[in-house]
Amino acid sequence: MYRPSDTAVTQILPFSTDPALRRRFLLHDEPLKANVRFGLLLEVLDKLAEDTALAYVRRSIPEARVVTAAIDHIRVRCEADISRDVVLLAQVNYVGRTSLEVGVRIEQPGDPPSHIASCYVTMVAQTADGQQVGSTPLPGLVFEDDLERQRESKAIKRRNAYRRSRETAQQQPTRDEYALLARLHTTGAAWFLRIDGWLTNHQRLGKNIPGA
Ligand SMILES: CC(C)(COP(=O)(O)OP(=O)(O)OC[C@H]1O[C@@H](n2cnc3c(N)ncnc32)[C@H](O)[C@@H]1OP(=O)(O)O)[C@@H](O)C(=O)NCCC(=O)NCCS
Repeated sequence: MYRPSDTAVTQILPFSTDPALRRRFLLHDEPLKANVRFGLLLEVLDKLAEDTALAYVRRSIPEARVVTAAIDHIRVRCEADISRDVVLLAQVNYVGRTSLEVGVRIEQPGDPPSHIASCYVTMVAQTADGQQVGSTPLPGLVFEDDLERQRESKAIKRRNAYRRSRETAQQQPTRDEYALLARLHTTGAAWFLRIDGWLTNHQRLGKNIPGA
């Protein structure tokens, strides 16, 4: 069995020494703050999360593949500096039955180092049986230090929150919710009839209809 730290992968974007890479990630060709195309960083992050998950899954199931089930919200915590290297650190935090959560942290080393963003990507392992592709069970991780256990417990909280939201979405509306929907429907229909009547009247009188 593996520990989360056995799954760690680091990727460096060497902006400080690679002008072509810097140009590709540059937002504006001017010396501005926060001049980094964040969407491109997200692409790198997405691929790194996939590679990290796949490396873990393929240790036990070489023919498996992974699909992204969810990416947790991501917030840019501080501005990135295009003249400094960007480091992406990824590792598997938690393994469920068929899914695994990869945590990715984006930072810029320096004095002081800056933590640009972190996010959590849930991947599901799949294998094919003939034409049928299905999710496949994975071996779990072992947790040996407090930080690993802390990350596991936060991942479980996120997973439980996802499950609760899925259950809530599948529940029938309550009486109150149903009454509110019915009211909205009736009000919406009344507005539609008023606008429709106004249009018909205008057309009958040969008046101009703005925007038509
Ligand atoms: C992700 C997917 C494979 C799950 O299908 P499934 O196996 O039939 O669905 P299940 O409900 O049994 O979920 C399987 C696992 O994924 C987890 N999961 C699924 N959707 C999730 C989500 N949105 N957030 C967190 N976990 C999720 C479940 O908790 C479950 O975990 P477990 O096996 O460890 O207990 C399916 O929903 C899918 O194909 N989605 C589209 C994925 C895709 O196209 N990705 C590329 C995007 S560009």
